[in-house]
Formats: sequence, C-alpha cells, structure tokens
Amino acid sequence: MDATFPADPRATETFEKVFGCAPQWGARVPGRVNVIGEHIDYNDGTVLPAAINRYLTVLAAPSEGSDELLVKSDLFPEGARLNLADIPSAQDLEPRWMRYVLGVVAGYQRLGVYVPGMQVWVESTIPVGSGLSSSAALEVAFATLFESASGKSLAPKQKALLCQRAEQEFAGVPCGIMDQFACVLSQKDHFLDIDCRTLEVAHIPFSDPDVTLLIANTGVSHDLATSEYAKRKRDCELALRRLGRTSWRAVTADILASASGLLEESLYRRARHVVTEIERAQTAVDAVRERSWEELGELMDASHQSLAEDYEVSCAELDHMVATGREIGLAGGVYGGRMTGGGFGGSTVWLIRTEAAETIMNRMDEGFEKRTGHVAELFVTRPMRGAQTLTFPETTAS
Ligand code: GLA
Repeated sequence: MDATFPADPRATETFEKVFGCAPQWGARVPGRVNVIGEHIDYNDGTVLPAAINRYLTVLAAPSEGSDELLVKSDLFPEGARLNLADIPSAQDLEPRWMRYVLGVVAGYQRLGVYVPGMQVWVESTIPVGSGLSSSAALEVAFATLFESASGKSLAPKQKALLCQRAEQEFAGVPCGIMDQFACVLSQKDHFLDIDCRTLEVAHIPFSDPDVTLLIANTGVSHDLATSEYAKRKRDCELALRRLGRTSWRAVTADILASASGLLEESLYRRARHVVTEIERAQTAVDAVRERSWEELGELMDASHQSLAEDYEVSCAELDHMVATGREIGLAGGVYGGRMTGGGFGGSTVWLIRTEAAETIMNRMDEGFEKRTGHVAELFVTRPMRGAQTLTFPETTAS
C-alpha cells in the first residue's frame, strides 16, 4: 500500500469543473534526479537517484457503465480516449504520450486485473523532456490509480517493473529500471541506491542541512535522445560480448585495458564509461555515508566528463551549464555537478552548499539564454518520497 497524501483542493476543484463530478481516486508521483550512475542501469551497475519536489498528479472518478478511459490535461490540450475493452496496439495510438498509459493498462490486464472505465485529470510540475522522469511519473501515476480503482496492489518493485515494461514495449524506449524504481521506492531525505543487477535497494541518508541538490534544466531536448539511447545500449551489449563476459560487473578497468584490442576505438570509450561509472557510483555511496561532499562532488564532475567524452551523450547546452558550475567552484559553494538522465539536453544536477543556493542559481542563469537561446529553469530540492495515493476530505472523514 502506498503512503497517502491529502489531495490539493485546487486540483480537486479543477477536476470538478472539467468533469462535473468529484474525484474518487488520485495519486501524486515525483520526478527524479540521478546523482550518479548514468547509463549504467541497463548495464548491471548501481545507480543513485532521488525523488524531487516536482510532481505529476492524477485525479480520477469512475465512468459508470463505460469501458472508456478518458484523459484530460492542460499539459495535453487534445486529451485522449482509450477503449479498455478492446485496447489498440501501441503503434496505432495517438497522441504518443498515451502509449505509456496504454502500456500500463495492458500490464494490469495481462495480470488479470480489471481496470474500470474512468475519467482522469493529469497535471504536472515536472518539466517534460527535462531528464527528470516525467514519463516514468506518468506510468507510475496511472499504475497507482489502477491499483486504487481495482483494489489489487502489486508489490512496489513489481509495480515499477510493470511500468518499465510499459515504456519498453509500448513507448519503444529500451530503458533501464532506474526511473520507475526512483518514482516508486524513494524515501524522504534519502538517496536510493539501486543495484540494477540484483534489483536490491538501499536507502542512503542525505539529510545534512548544509548541503543541497540543485537542478538546472537547460530547457533543451534534442530529437536524437531516443535513437541514440538505443544505440548506446546496443553498443554496450556488443562490447560485453566481445569481452566474453555476461555482466559489466565482472569487467574491471584492468580487464578492459588488457582487452582493448577487441574493441574499436569508440566502442572502447563506451566500455570505459560503463566500467568507470560503475566504480564511481559505488564509491559515491561511501562518500554520502561519510558525508564527504568534496569527494562526491569530484565523482560527479568525473562522471560528466566521462558521459561527454567517452559516452557522448552530452550536448553544448549541458556542457555550457557544467562549465559555469565549474567556474563557480568550491569557493562559490559548488562541490560538483553533471548532466543527469539520458542526456542530449535536459538537466544538470549539482551538489551545493545550501547557503550559497541563491547566488549560484543567479550565476548559472546569468547569460545562459544569451549564450544558448534557451531559458534555464533552476530549483533546489531535497530527496522526497516516491508515489503517494491521494486522500480526499470525504474519504478521510468516513
Ligand atoms: C533514462 C532511462 C533510464 C537510464 C537513464 C540514463 O532516464 O529511462 O533507465 O538509463 O536514461 O542513466
């Protein structure tokens, strides 16, 4: 059972205006930021995300006597409908964002869970295309709704895995498990240490009030993100086969160096990112436990360099933001930072001294638009908790 949270009366009012009835079920699901361990969740690595203080919220009421899922949102003014009694195949479904929802519907139906017809309102403060997991939040929010409506709940990890499969099979993104795990399993004031090989998780406390996470979204999303993501994944599979191993966890820096002749130059660099990032992500967990913020910052810096040069998933706008953060440096309260998420646009994440947040944000913002033509969005966050079921005054009172 998910934790609960009182529904925002303003969202309830919007729902009533749109649908002319009161919502009965609801969920709010945070976005996530990944502190370190990038592009290694699909490579058996360990990753260290945290849920952030930006949420996707869904409110719903049953559509009596109807098998239709009717979705409205100010994010997607066109809205969408889905016949739950006869679901279409993903490639026929428009708008495209409904494919994530369709995947979740199909996942529950496959398990024999009856998803009733309902009217759903979606709103979100997670910027779309920002590398902060708005799509995983959408999947998990609908999964949470379907569980409330059907009275059948999966174990949290199963729920996250169902959502990952929805994204892989219905939205065509061969993603790892990080985003869905983070959206479901995160706890307040903790980083989520996920071992993507065993799917074990540990909650690592991050509650030092002097240190904060800053997110700087470049406001850019490049079209190649999905195709390049799939390409990187295939490159890694190929490199691993050439190395004669079945898991990247069995490949050390020494093994890789001695096998360099088996990989052409760019494949070698991809492999080097994976091997070094797996090591950095594991070292980072110790740094967080020991509150060694300078060390964690250095690991984040090194991660960015590896992602930009070896894995080649950064872009000019991300690199510009990172360069500005480096200039501010330790003297200005920046321990370190890097691109976060899939890359090719989206956000950077920073470990900073809390007291310097305002000044750092101003400096990162300054000149960014002039230089890149995009408006940056900056905000601080502490690690928040994962998916919550909404309660409504009527239901709590009864
Ligand atoms: C996207 C994917 C994740 C992960 C990151 C990169 O967010 O959904 O599974 O691979 O990219 O670390």
